[in-house]
Amino acid sequence: MTRAAVLCGIGSYLPPRTVSNHDLAGRLDTTDEWIRSRTGIGNRHQASPGTATSDLAAGAAEKALKCADVDSVDSIVLATTTPDRPCPGTAPTVASKLGFRGVAAFDVSAVCTGFLYALATASGLVATGAERVLVIGAETYSTIVDPDNRANAVIFGDGAGAVVLRAGRPGEPGALGAFDLGSDGAGRDLITVRAGGSEQRLSGAEPTHEDRYFVMSGREVFHKAVSRMADSVRTMLRRAGMGIEQIDRLVAHQANQRILLRLADVLGLPEDSNVSNIDAVGNTAAASIPIALAHGHANRLLLPGHRVLLTAFGGGLTWGSTVLTWPDLAHSSRPRR
Ligand code: UT7
Repeated sequence: MTRAAVLCGIGSYLPPRTVSNHDLAGRLDTTDEWIRSRTGIGNRHQASPGTATSDLAAGAAEKALKCADVDSVDSIVLATTTPDRPCPGTAPTVASKLGFRGVAAFDVSAVCTGFLYALATASGLVATGAERVLVIGAETYSTIVDPDNRANAVIFGDGAGAVVLRAGRPGEPGALGAFDLGSDGAGRDLITVRAGGSEQRLSGAEPTHEDRYFVMSGREVFHKAVSRMADSVRTMLRRAGMGIEQIDRLVAHQANQRILLRLADVLGLPEDSNVSNIDAVGNTAAASIPIALAHGHANRLLLPGHRVLLTAFGGGLTWGSTVLTWPDLAHSSRPRR
C-alpha cells in the first residue's frame, strides 16, 4: 500500500445541557453511588429539542477542521445510530451545514463500533484517491432511550467527535494501521430498537413501549464486549506486526469504566494506559471514541509518538480495532509547530 489515511485534526462537541447522577436520582429509582460504582459515569450531556445529530456533528467537524487548519474535504463519513431522519442519510446535511457543496457524504451504521467502521471506510477512500476525508461520530441517544428506564437512562449521553484524515504514507505519525472488523447478527437482540424498520413496521399495530425504545441486555453485553474487543485487538496487532507491549494508550469505546479496566487487564496493559472521560460524558455510542480522543489530546494524555490502540464493541453485534502513532496536532492554545 503506498497511501495511508493520516489523522491530522480532531475536535468534539457536547451539547451544553448536562444531566448529573443527582438529577437522575431525583426522578428515577437510582443513586449516584449505584451509577458511579457500576459504570464510572457521573454526568452526561443531552441535546435539547430542536438540536439534531447533524448539529452536533457539524460542531465537532468545525473544531477538527480548525485543528487540521483545512477548509475543504473530498468526503464525509458519518457514524451514527441516531440519524436526523430515517431517510435520507445525515452526512449530506452535515456537509451542507459546513458549507461543503458537492462532496461525497454518507452514513455508516454500526452502533457503538460505527466510528471504527467509518475510519476503515475512510482509509479505503484515501487508498483509492481521496485527499482529505472528514470522519465523524455523532449521537443523540436521548431520542431513543426511554427516559424512565433506569438501566439505560443512566448510561447514555449525546455528543459528537470528528477527525480529519489526509492522504499520507504508511507508518508516518497519524497513519491508521491495520484494521480488524467483525460482526455477529445472531446477537442483534442484545442491543436493539425493535420497532420502526421494515421488520416491525410503524404502519402496523402500535408498538409496545419496550419495542419503541432502545433495549440492551447489559450483563451479557458486558462479558461479550470484553472478550470480543480483546480478540479483535489481538487479531489487529498480529496483522500490524506489533505486540501489546508496544502500546502506550488504550482508547476503547466508553461503554462502562469497569469494561475499560477489565479490558486493559485482559490485554496486559497498565490501568493508566486507559484514556477515559466516561465520568463526564457517559456512553455516547458511535461518538465515544472521537470524543475520548479529543479529550485525551486536549488534556495531554495523548502525546506525539504515543502508540494508541482504538477498539470498540456494540450493537449488531459489531466490533473493531485499529492502531496509530499519535501525531503532533495543534492545540486550541498552541498552533502546530
Ligand atoms: O455501548 C454498547 C455496549 N454496551 C455495553 O458494553 C454495556 C455493557 N453493560 C454494562 O455496562 C452493565 O451491564 C450495566 C451498567 C448496563 C448494568 O450493570 P450490571 O452490574 O450488569 O447490573 P445488572 O443489569 O446486572 O443489574 C443489577 C441490579 C438489578 O437489580 P436486581 O435484579 O439484582 O435486583 C437491576 O435492576 O441493578 C439494578 N439496576 C439498577 N439499580 C439502581 C439496574 N439499573 C439500575 C440503576 N440504579 N440505574
